[in-house]
Amino acid sequence: MPSDPSIGRVLLVGAGPGPADLMTVRAQKAVQGAQALLYDALVSEEVIALAPPGCFRIQTGKRAGRASMAQESINRLMLRLARRGLTVVRLKGGDPSIFGRVGEEVAYLRGRGVTTEVVPGVTAACAAAAQFDIPLTHRGVARRVLFATARTEGGALVDLDWSGLADGQTTLALYMGKSAAGLLAKQLIAGGLDAGVPAAAIENAGAPSARLVHAPLEGLAAALGVMNPQGPVLILIGEVAAHAVDALATTDPAPLTQAIPISLARRR
Ligand SMILES: C[S@@+](CC[C@H](N)C(=O)[O-])C[C@H]1O[C@@H](n2cnc3c(N)ncnc32)[C@H](O)[C@@H]1O
Repeated sequence: MPSDPSIGRVLLVGAGPGPADLMTVRAQKAVQGAQALLYDALVSEEVIALAPPGCFRIQTGKRAGRASMAQESINRLMLRLARRGLTVVRLKGGDPSIFGRVGEEVAYLRGRGVTTEVVPGVTAACAAAAQFDIPLTHRGVARRVLFATARTEGGALVDLDWSGLADGQTTLALYMGKSAAGLLAKQLIAGGLDAGVPAAAIENAGAPSARLVHAPLEGLAAALGVMNPQGPVLILIGEVAAHAVDALATTDPAPLTQAIPISLARRR
C-alpha cells in the first residue's frame, strides 16, 4: 500500500542493553526527535530521558508491577499516533530484530500505509560478550553463534530442537532462559553436548551493575541459584565462555562454593 504523506512514520529503534552510550548515533537521534515514544520494559531511564520535552512517553512493557500492553493494543496505538501525523519511536531493548517482534509490527504498520524504519541496536549477547571478554566466535574453536530463546510454556521449553543445537563448535546465546537453565542444560546434554562445556550467565549486560557467573553446563542452574539475579539474564554456552574465566582470574579468583566450580564477578 503506498504511504500517505500526511501520515507520520514509525521508527522501530534498538535501545541497546541499557546505557545510552551503547546506542547507535542514529538511535539516539531518533529518540531525540520523537514526538511519541513507546518503550519496552528493558529500556533504561537514561535512554528514555533522551526524548525531548513534550514527547508523549508511553510504557508498553511490564514495569513497577504494571501489566504489559497486549501486542494488538501496541499496534493500534502506534497506528493512531502515526495517523495524527506524529513521528513515533517504538523503542525496544537491545536489537529490535532479535526477539523483539519487529517483523509483526512492521507488517502491521506497512499494511496500513505507514512508513517504517528499523534502527539496529546492540543485542544483549554482544553487550555481554564484550563486557566479559568473551569472543562469540573464535577461530578454530567456535565457528558459529546461534541466538535462541530458552522460553518455557507450562514448564516445558518451547521452540527448539535441542539435540540439533548440541554442537561443540557453536556458541549458544540464549535469551529469556533465566528460569529454564536446568531444563535446557539437561536437554543439551541429552542431545550430546558435553556436560563440562563452559557456560556463563550474565545479568544486566552492558550496565555497570552487570554480574557474571560461570560454570560447566551441568552446574549452570546451580550457579544461577547462587547469583539469584533480579535483572535480565543472557546465557552463553560454548568453549568461548572459558575466556571469561581467564579474564576474570586476575580480578575475582575466589569461587563462591567449593562444591560447584562456579564464580561470580562484576566487571565494567
Ligand atoms: C524479549 S528479549 C529481547 C532481546 C533484545 N531485543 C536484545 O536484542 O537484547 C528479552 C531477553 O533478552 C535478554 N536481555 C535483554 N537485555 C539484557 C541485558 N541487559 N542483560 C542480560 N540479558 C538481557 C534477557 O534474556 C531477556 O529475558
